[in-house]
Amino acid sequence: MAKVNEHYRKLSAGYLFPEIGRRTRLFQESHPEAEILRLGIGNTTEPLTPAIIEGLHDGVERLASVETYSGYGDEQGSADLRKALQAFYASRGVELETDELFISDGAKPDSANIQSIFSQTSIVAFQDPAYPVYVDTNVIAGRSGEFNQESGTYDNLVYLPCAKENNFFPDLPDERVDLLYLCSPNNPTGAVATKQQLQKYVDYARKHRAVIIFDASYSEYISDDTLPRSIYEIDGAKECAIEINSFSKFAGFTGVRLGWSIVPKELVVEDSEPGEVNRLWFRRQTTFFNGASNVVQRGGLAVLSKEGLSECRQLISYYMENARIIREGLVSLGLSVFGGDNAPYLWLKTPGNMTSWEFFDKLLEETWVIGTPGSGFGPAGEGYFRLSAFGHREDIEEAVERITSRLKL
Ligand code: MLT
Repeated sequence: MAKVNEHYRKLSAGYLFPEIGRRTRLFQESHPEAEILRLGIGNTTEPLTPAIIEGLHDGVERLASVETYSGYGDEQGSADLRKALQAFYASRGVELETDELFISDGAKPDSANIQSIFSQTSIVAFQDPAYPVYVDTNVIAGRSGEFNQESGTYDNLVYLPCAKENNFFPDLPDERVDLLYLCSPNNPTGAVATKQQLQKYVDYARKHRAVIIFDASYSEYISDDTLPRSIYEIDGAKECAIEINSFSKFAGFTGVRLGWSIVPKELVVEDSEPGEVNRLWFRRQTTFFNGASNVVQRGGLAVLSKEGLSECRQLISYYMENARIIREGLVSLGLSVFGGDNAPYLWLKTPGNMTSWEFFDKLLEETWVIGTPGSGFGPAGEGYFRLSAFGHREDIEEAVERITSRLKL
């Protein structure tokens, strides 16, 4: 008799964004007149730029003739795209070999799948709050105990609280852990780790032969050049860190789907030789995945061209101006606001000690604006709320106008 994977039953609730969608639909049904504005999920809204559209067209054209047609591509991603990424990192002082780069269909699947190459018995630590995929996939893989309603945590997982007191970057774990998920610029808090903060984690990981899984999906939003955009800007990181990144927020590929991961050959764990973890990820990807779309990879190549990069920087500036507008509005109400200066997310303390979901309901009822409850990202997110700067300018301005004029504080 077949049985289900029992670990799925441990998952505490539905995935956060569908749950927000469900509550929004219910509200819309009971308030058909409400024109809802969505600052919840970090979903890009502005069109792809001309250079990228040209790259995608080129990808389609290549499929139309026998001379340029291609079927399955190189398993790790097109050699051209990996070379372009190698040059992109080199321009920032990070030297990589092209077979350390793995092209994928986005950072979410890579963040979900990377854990599968590590031992079932790994002790795993997470920033709290964190992007829910890291915790959920380790629960599904059987590395946690049951969900504890009172604490809002899973047994056997290590939570590293990120609060105002530590500038939303966690202190080192008290105990020995094997896998550590870090995200900078952070989703959801918008905080960006400094070189010194990351160096402490790299030193810890090297000392304990732990692996840092570093999600850099929002790195292009960093405008302060003193802040690291890649973990490999940190001494010793190649021995202990895997980096995951994406074209989603960088170039508006949320629906197009393209990302990459870096597994350095120098990386070693307790029972591996240098190169083995890189080979295991290659083995995993070639078994489970047939490569990213060849059309989309031509689009990725266009992103990394001179024109593509310059156009994407303008797109990012557009979203960051949205962030500035949101911040200004929230601050004018006397709210405590974090993030939003080198990241497209604003993280605010809910007023009057409201829970995150109470504030979600209040904001929706009074202003018809959707945001994301901080508690959906982990127990330390309780009492916080995330607003996303992705959106059309007129919608952002309208949302801020409604919040500042209608929200009863
Ligand atoms: C978010 O809103 O946290 C992200 O956009 C979700 C995602 O990238 O999957």
